[in-house]
Amino acid sequence: MKDAIERVLISEEELEAAVAEMGKQISRDYADKDPIFIGVLKGCFIFMADLMRHVDISCSMDFMAVSSYSGTTSTGAVKINKDLSEIIEGRHLILVEDILDSGVTLNYLKNYLMVRKPASIAVATLMDKPARRRADIYADYSCFEIPDAFVVGYGLDYNERYRNLPYIGVLKPEIYS
Ligand code: IMP
Ligand code: MG
Repeated sequence: MKDAIERVLISEEELEAAVAEMGKQISRDYADKDPIFIGVLKGCFIFMADLMRHVDISCSMDFMAVSSYSGTTSTGAVKINKDLSEIIEGRHLILVEDILDSGVTLNYLKNYLMVRKPASIAVATLMDKPARRRADIYADYSCFEIPDAFVVGYGLDYNERYRNLPYIGVLKPEIYS
């Protein structure tokens, strides 16, 4: 598995520090707001699990599953595979994403959830790849801005593999070309 990685982009130590800092910041910003953290599966699962351990305010959690990608290129279409189980009307939402790339997925999700009249919607992403943005969307909270490379690990996959790497690595181009 590790021989598919060209280089480590973000180490375990760097992940830990940045995720802890984001948890503290969100706790300050949302004290008394009782937000719902909405994890966008599957890529968010490790990031969200670590993030939540640094959030020390009253909150709830829910998950959505969407798919928009096959391989390394977006199909442009977003499909909801699992919807929310909580009522979100009047609540403060924080969407938790692994990576904001073209922005097509999150833009779609935001519009989809807006119809249910939440009090607010914010985006917390582990990584942001601004060079590839196609939709008019930004992250309210972002741990790392990264260059335009395909990365895996810490929850992120290439065709469902490599999610279990404890760091963020750049995949060797020959793996997907
Ligand atoms: P967007 O709609 O282009 O912003 O795509 C967002 C989704 O694409 C992310 O939530 C990831 O699941 C996936 N994705 C985008 N870039 C990468 C990457 O470098 N590695 C792994 N998955 C990625
Ligand atoms: Mg994702």
